[in-house]
Amino acid sequence: MDATCARRRARLLESIGSGVLLLPAAPRSFRNADVEHEYRQDSDFHYLSGFDEPESVLVLVPKSESPFVLFVRPRDPKRETWDGPRAGVEGAVSQFGASAAFDIAELDQKLPELLQDSARLFYRLGRDRSFDDRVLRAIDRVRAMAKHGKYWPTEIVEPETLLHEMRLLKEPEELSLMRRALDITKEAHLAAMAQAEPGQYEYEIEALISSIFRKHGAERPAYPPIVGSGPNATILHYRARDRRVNPGDLLLIDAGCEYAYYASDVTRTFPASGEFSPCQRAIYEVVLDAQLAAIEKVRPGATLEEIHNAALGVVCDGLRRLGLLDGEPQKIMDEKRYKPYFMHRTSHYLGMDVHDAGSYFQLGKPRPLETGMVITVEPGVYISQSADQVPTEYRGIGVRIEDDVLVVPGGSEVLSDAIPKRVDEVERACRS
Ligand code: GLY
Ligand code: MN
Ligand code: MN
Repeated sequence: MDATCARRRARLLESIGSGVLLLPAAPRSFRNADVEHEYRQDSDFHYLSGFDEPESVLVLVPKSESPFVLFVRPRDPKRETWDGPRAGVEGAVSQFGASAAFDIAELDQKLPELLQDSARLFYRLGRDRSFDDRVLRAIDRVRAMAKHGKYWPTEIVEPETLLHEMRLLKEPEELSLMRRALDITKEAHLAAMAQAEPGQYEYEIEALISSIFRKHGAERPAYPPIVGSGPNATILHYRARDRRVNPGDLLLIDAGCEYAYYASDVTRTFPASGEFSPCQRAIYEVVLDAQLAAIEKVRPGATLEEIHNAALGVVCDGLRRLGLLDGEPQKIMDEKRYKPYFMHRTSHYLGMDVHDAGSYFQLGKPRPLETGMVITVEPGVYISQSADQVPTEYRGIGVRIEDDVLVVPGGSEVLSDAIPKRVDEVERACRS
């Protein structure tokens, strides 16, 4: 991690040139009184430092003799008895490679010095207004020294423009962590297929999945797991997880663990009692064909727009064949008549965050994929129980199939390929 972070910082220091980059740690957040929500470091902060303590600030100053500065909580035996060990100022240098480190209490005093004589500041304004104030005050203090020949940052640039471009293209170390996350996620989905059965509550299946994540050392789910049975599978961000699974239900499980700060994001849909009904199978095969057609498009140079359109074409065709949509295929597409059944996009970037960093458009146009990007491919068909226009036997069926796909030269690699999705494989996994 140390060497990896150092290499990333070196690359970034080069692109910052004569500017300065300022990055605060993720804020702590309180649930009530002195009870905190679980702390997770900001992904950018972790990416550049591996330092996961709150109340820290990272500064990169390329032109300085100390180009990597950390402000951190000092050692405090009393507090450490309550909250656990801190690296402290010395640990920031000796364990995390800071070229200089200071007590976080010194930030306001030191900041003007760090900002002076840099015309450009890389800092994200608007995320934390009280921190913005401190930064603007520091700039004011440098500006006040103009008559002594100092200059101050006159340009404030979003660090994302550099940093998120780096995060978008995964390094070998990152890919091995993502593969590990997916190994664990695979175990969870296989266990769910094998062990879920009618009569259980959705939360029992969620507990099974989360326990497997933790058992294998994943810190947490990368996002709240979705476990939707029967008609709940048609609710995109279903959260309640309190319904009892009926025989004949489909179960839609969208769950992926976070491992060492890397996310996985996988959806599988399977029959609770082990066998698809003819209608469930018909919808499932439409979604599977759409997903395979979309994955087929993934390669350097392709756009997420093209990948989405490939999925959309197959979904529209399939729903026409089943009599759920009628009319000219082109007209269905133009009039977006698929929307009640397929209302989300097919792909997003994946990395440290489930909806990962990186721009989707360049100069207003969908950006072409590049080797080293990881995306999801996740079409779905959701037929609401109140869809009166649809034959009764199709109502309440929801299917999504989601894989994580790495863009490689000339094509793609499906990183989550080992998790069954063909009908016979899924039925076999449910019986095992
Ligand atoms: N699980 C979140 C998503 O699929 O985007
Ligand atoms: Mn996703
Ligand atoms: Mn998902």
